[in-house]
Amino acid sequence: MIPLHALTPDGVRIRGFPRNPRSLLVPILSFLTENHDSRFRHGLLPGYTAAPMASTLDTRTRILSAADVRAVLSMKAAVEAVESAFADHARGLAHMPAKVYLSLSEHAGDFRAMPSYVAEHAGHPASAGVKWVNSHPDNPKRHGLPSVMGVYILSDPATALPLAVMDATVLTAARTGAAAAVASKHLARPDAKTIGFVGSGVQARWMLDAHRTIFGDRLAVLAADIDPAAASTFAGECGGRAVSVEEASGCDIVCASTPGRGPAVMRAWVRPGCHVNAMGADAPGKQELDAGILRDAIVVIDEHYQATHSGEVNVPLARGELREDHIFGTLGDVIAGKKRPERTAAALTVFDSTGLAVQDVALARVLFEEARARDVGTLVALVG
Ligand SMILES: NC(=O)c1ccc[n+]([C@@H]2O[C@H](COP(=O)([O-])OP(=O)(O)OC[C@H]3O[C@@H](n4cnc5c(N)ncnc54)[C@H](O)[C@@H]3O)[C@@H](O)[C@H]2O)c1
Repeated sequence: MIPLHALTPDGVRIRGFPRNPRSLLVPILSFLTENHDSRFRHGLLPGYTAAPMASTLDTRTRILSAADVRAVLSMKAAVEAVESAFADHARGLAHMPAKVYLSLSEHAGDFRAMPSYVAEHAGHPASAGVKWVNSHPDNPKRHGLPSVMGVYILSDPATALPLAVMDATVLTAARTGAAAAVASKHLARPDAKTIGFVGSGVQARWMLDAHRTIFGDRLAVLAADIDPAAASTFAGECGGRAVSVEEASGCDIVCASTPGRGPAVMRAWVRPGCHVNAMGADAPGKQELDAGILRDAIVVIDEHYQATHSGEVNVPLARGELREDHIFGTLGDVIAGKKRPERTAAALTVFDSTGLAVQDVALARVLFEEARARDVGTLVALVG
């Protein structure tokens, strides 16, 4: 029998037991059919006794530090999670409001809030969460901190319990690297032999790791940076060669990840058949590519609102150097088979990435499941 105290939302008290029990039917039925608020169903509000299911719920939150996230992260799993997240979004299985920007020019940076939900499908449980992340390009030089740092809250969509709070600095870099690799898988020429990095910072390293899960070690690495020492360090770490931005731009696959506000990669430097992952432009006014590259390329974006607002296409569109109808479609459309770009040997392709919240929630869920299975992290009674 349903206990009365579990059926009485705030302010509606049923006192005593009515003489005619049938009079209870109306409030009970209306509660069951109309009240979708899981707080009542799981008895988690003050004054409400737990409903039967609640006794089996572990209400603690798993806290995962950057070291914990690294311990449970597999780049192969990240690439798979991100690839299906793009396709899920294209198939309408996700809710993803556009990211919210909090620009702080006085602190030379910005914050972004990125919520999303992916419905249960194909054996994956429903997932919801939000990322709080920043971009402060001067951080490495000024404070010895990464340019991009984040925290992720993964919640159970059914109960709203916070399942995990985790470092999203590693998560962001891993899902960004994975997105570039997935784009190269679907858009680059299959016989690609060289990969060039314009910007040899944090994202470049993760992009290379992710590409290696798909292309193996067969891609020769050319690293470039406005700071030659950064290019040399990266090249030394990965067995590549430090080169000029022009030389890196001549590779079969080019990964740009700079915080630039003007073209770093020029049209004349890019060879026929090249695929460019434009990862750095993720806020209004940011730009890495000469608009001529976009005009001559099949341009694939991650999401229309975000790309036109803050992606690589945002500046050329605003200046009238590119037409919106030149955008071919989204990477999710391509992965889901809804759109098929004609990749001739000489065609140029560009993936314009702003970073999608569905990438984060998909990877956060994978990390959480792995951490739970291996009991990594710390369990905390975070919410009352
Ligand atoms: N698309 C996404 O999903 C996504 C995700 C994370 C970060 N980002 C963006 O990627 C960019 C890079 O992030 P990061 O974490 O690698 O930063 P980082 O500071 O670690 O590395 C950036 C590198 O670019 C170099 N650089 C700057 N201007 C350059 C130029 N004109 N030519 C060549 N090199 C240049 C810097 O010297 C630095 O080494 C940022 O703009 C960030 O906002 C995008």
